Amino acid sequence: MKLYLHLRPCVKVVLEMIWLGFVLLLLSDGHKAAAQSPNYLIGLGSYDITGPAADVNMMGYANMDQTASGVHFRLRARTFIVAEPQGNRVAFVNLDACMASQLVTIKVLARLKARYGDIYSENNVAISGIHTHAGPGGYLQYIVYIVTSLGFVPESFNALVDGIEQSIIQAHENLRPGSIFINKGELLDAGVNRSPSAYLNNPATERGKYEYDVDKEMTLLKFVDDEWGPIGSFNWFATHGTSMSRTNSLISGDNKGTAARFMEDWFDENNGGSRASDTSKTNAIPRRVSNIINGVHENHHELLEVAASFQSSLGRPVTRSMSMARRVRSSLRQADRPKFVAAFCQSNCGDVSPNVLGSFCIDTGLPCDFNSSTCGGKNELCYGRGPGYPDEFESTRIIGDRQFRKAVEVFNEASEQLRGKIDYRHTYIDFSKLDVTISSENGSEVVRTCPAAMGFSFAAGTTDGPGAFDFTQGDDQGNAFWRLVRNVLKTPGEEQVDCQSPKPILLDTGEMKEPYDWAPSILPIQILSIGQLVVLSVPGEFTTMAGRRLRDAVRSVLTSAGDFDENIHIVIAGLTNAYSQYVTTIEEYEIQRYEGASTLYGPHTLSAYIQEFNKLATALTTGLTVSTGPSPPDLLNQQISLLTPVVMDTTPFGVNFGDTSADVPQNSTFARGDNVTVVFYSACPRNDLMTEGTFALVEILQGEDSWVPAYDDDDFCLRFIWSRPSKLSTRSYARIEWKIPETAFPGVYRISHFGASKNLFGSINHFAGSSNAFVVV
Ligand SMILES: *[C@@H]1O[C@H](CO)[C@@H](O)[C@H](O)[C@H]1NC(C)=O
Ligand SMILES: *[C@@H]1O[C@H](CO)[C@@H](O)[C@H](O)[C@H]1NC(C)=O
Ligand SMILES: *[C@@H]1O[C@H](CO)[C@@H](O)[C@H](O)[C@H]1NC(C)=O
Ligand SMILES: *[C@@H]1O[C@H](CO)[C@@H](O)[C@H](O)[C@H]1NC(C)=O
Repeated sequence: MKLYLHLRPCVKVVLEMIWLGFVLLLLSDGHKAAAQSPNYLIGLGSYDITGPAADVNMMGYANMDQTASGVHFRLRARTFIVAEPQGNRVAFVNLDACMASQLVTIKVLARLKARYGDIYSENNVAISGIHTHAGPGGYLQYIVYIVTSLGFVPESFNALVDGIEQSIIQAHENLRPGSIFINKGELLDAGVNRSPSAYLNNPATERGKYEYDVDKEMTLLKFVDDEWGPIGSFNWFATHGTSMSRTNSLISGDNKGTAARFMEDWFDENNGGSRASDTSKTNAIPRRVSNIINGVHENHHELLEVAASFQSSLGRPVTRSMSMARRVRSSLRQADRPKFVAAFCQSNCGDVSPNVLGSFCIDTGLPCDFNSSTCGGKNELCYGRGPGYPDEFESTRIIGDRQFRKAVEVFNEASEQLRGKIDYRHTYIDFSKLDVTISSENGSEVVRTCPAAMGFSFAAGTTDGPGAFDFTQGDDQGNAFWRLVRNVLKTPGEEQVDCQSPKPILLDTGEMKEPYDWAPSILPIQILSIGQLVVLSVPGEFTTMAGRRLRDAVRSVLTSAGDFDENIHIVIAGLTNAYSQYVTTIEEYEIQRYEGASTLYGPHTLSAYIQEFNKLATALTTGLTVSTGPSPPDLLNQQISLLTPVVMDTTPFGVNFGDTSADVPQNSTFARGDNVTVVFYSACPRNDLMTEGTFALVEILQGEDSWVPAYDDDDFCLRFIWSRPSKLSTRSYARIEWKIPETAFPGVYRISHFGASKNLFGSINHFAGSSNAFVVV
């Protein structure tokens, strides 16, 4: 970037002449795409979508006991918008959430319509989830997906709708001339097939075309502002967000959120604008801290003297705006240039696990049974192991780090520019009763999809989270929401049983409509094209081979029409715009592992997708429109919410919110790599989600008495762990753990906590407190 910035006018002219020559060359080749303007308008945005950090069940494992109680690092919605100067545009939003939600998408689109008219619609906006299993749930509208969260959770839902809207507004307002480069790389050690016996049922000739039983390719976009150089990066790579386990209770973006955090910090530390003038320092020193610390005392004894004069400050009331102002990353933001945004998007991850060491029985330590992933017939004993086993945070860090490093490599070498028109097609399909023409030995044959149903293997779960969601048990099982809705459990009719065969039906969700729909039937599918990049938005988790078949089918439609040359890049954006669980190949479906059992619309689900995507692709090449299709329902007003609100918060007599209950000992010195832990009297984090703020903060002393933010909720090294002494207690504690990074600057530090408490009358009061000062050498 610096290179380009320092190229002054004459060099730019030369570059432009080379560029012009290149365009002419392409034109003379009769290359259609190159006839378009070389430049797009590009804009990126990012906004906090963390949501409620307490009491709310986490989305993904469907484990009733897995409720949020703190934050490992915050979740974000990251957006890019690309526009032709006078033409089409597309917006792609990547959520640090388990999946997109139909209802969230509907409400975001309504907000965009109110704000921008027809510029953004379901046609050109894609909202995709990274599949973290460590974010708050309750934001989907169909019953199956909100059973474990005690129904719908407005706090989760609103955090998403607001955050996505804000992130799109930022990207929209940041639109400036720029270019996009595309590049690919192979990442071998971030995913393994977790249902290899199902994969093996695909035809040998087809498997023979591929080296691996999962996709190893990462496809990356590099966004370069004409004036400022690189401003962001989005990539697609398939691996599940299940590095954090089904017993974790800290909100986390899992491996993809980690990778995004690492890449954004990497960029800031290496390209920190005017403040990062000293490039001789190693990359390892967090420039954001070192640049703002002036005149710290380097001598250990002196540091201790200084620290001794800052004893733990008592908890004190503060205003919200004050606590927000104290964040690290807002102080990093430079007014005169866009903030770098890095997103790690999900793809066809259906059968791809980040637990790359394989799966083992917790009783014997031996590998699980290959065909069934069981241990002595029991699925609940078989667990996948990540590379940091048994430390799930370490596994998350490693799989995140691998994606981050690969992305940086691919980013640095990206040179193929996207050029050509921007286009899109979108339609809704009723997958519960779709005629699908498939080729068969005697020509073609018409088959049908079925109303949604889940098979028995669904309850068995996977090696990433075994034994999930087995709520067909006896009467005393399940939570209050389950007891409310379970009476409508339906025995499937013969037609449905035949249609879904060989899936043994556990829950006939597509035919259960009380108190409202249990599963979706109308789903969105979408193609976005930006020059030679084609994004296929699918509302579910395609397995590796299902994704390959879909990409190949669309590729052959697009290239045979001659509008796109052979060098198109097709990516699947998984879990996008809505959610409908899994999509396997028909051969994998026959095996009925978890993914087959969760392929909702029967054995021909994938063929239905391929047929309908082929229609969208054809429309793209012919310039024709496609019909809108049937509208999905908006079930917001029918949602049932049983999660109780925060009643009130209290502290023991004589203690304030924000006082420490376990402090750092006075006059302590720590080394890098040590843990520092402080416990504060706190209140329920649901009183204020601290959106774009922080609950935990590590501050470093600057000069005499000025505390400067150094690490916050976004940092991997800092954990905010919230707890109540008992379930119904009004008291609570915030335990803040800081593992001092090897890159920490020596100096005097303290740990602070921000929160909000609710009193008997329901009013919310913000508070803050700090630990004793301590020295890091
Ligand atoms: C898995 O099942 C297949 C088909 O039943 C069988 O041929 C194979 O030996 C089994 N593999 C293992 C490792 O048990
Ligand atoms: C194809 O034709 C053969 C011979 O007529 C017949 O036995 C077979 O059932 C047909 N297959 C299908 C799928 O219709
Ligand atoms: C900490 O150091 C200060 C100054 O050196 C001293 O006055 C104080 O007694 C020490 N406190 C403890 C608990 O050792
Ligand atoms: C710090 O805490 C982590 C996680 O709780 C633990 O694994 C590690 O051993 C601790 N390190 C030190 C130096 O105490």
